[in-house]
Amino acid sequence: MQSNVFITRFVGHHLVKLIKVDSTSNYLKTLLSNFKPLPQGTVIMADEQFAGRGQSNQKWLSQAGKNLTFSIFLVPHFLAVHQQFKLNQAITLGITDCLIKLLGNNCKVKWPNDIYFNEDKIGGVLIENTVRGNKISESVIGIGLNVNQTQFDTALKNANSLANILGVDFDLMALLGDILLAIEIRYLELAVGNLSVLDIAFTQRLFRFKQLCQFYDGKQIFWATIIGVSNTGLLILENDAGQQHFNLKEVELLL
Ligand code: BTN
Repeated sequence: MQSNVFITRFVGHHLVKLIKVDSTSNYLKTLLSNFKPLPQGTVIMADEQFAGRGQSNQKWLSQAGKNLTFSIFLVPHFLAVHQQFKLNQAITLGITDCLIKLLGNNCKVKWPNDIYFNEDKIGGVLIENTVRGNKISESVIGIGLNVNQTQFDTALKNANSLANILGVDFDLMALLGDILLAIEIRYLELAVGNLSVLDIAFTQRLFRFKQLCQFYDGKQIFWATIIGVSNTGLLILENDAGQQHFNLKEVELLL
């Protein structure tokens, strides 16, 4: 455990830094299932994950010691279950608020949770919520960001990193501090109910927003334009057939 080195109000004040773990999100969930209460904003980070998890049961591969792999504990009890996508918005906006300062405006959020620079994925977010009644009681926010890794598995066709893009190495703790601060600012915006601010910012930050793209819905490839995201987080596409809403597993944007 380390004392706080961040200038946040609460995110990261309780920081657990691990050398090696299966997954920082698993570790955080185990801590939460123990009796001792954890402070909101607890961050678990690891130099290496040997069973990192991504969305849709994918693995998250990250070279040891080169990248940021961390999980944040949040208590967004003010969010009803049907509002849970607002948390995705706040988190991905926070990460990209920070990264845009380094990379410029070509840093985008590929719906729902991927962090992109130009055509490449540089990070991802895995949010796992616990629900009590119709509210979210606990949230484990897992974040992976490719920072100083310069070579990627050939199976990962469009993976990239900050170091590859900018040609410099980053101090991982300093970058973590900047990201946590940016996330906290967006999270506090969410907590006070500034939902329309988040909606507008998220829409503008969507990868391929208002561009005609190819999609695959499990049956056919079709062309459509991303025109936004619904209140519940469905991707809204438009083409000659009209508007359609899609859930995460129902459609894939073809790159
Ligand atoms: C994705 O793009 O599929 C989401 C990737 C999320 C990876 C992070 S790394 C830290 C945390 N621990 C995990 O096992 N997964 C998340």
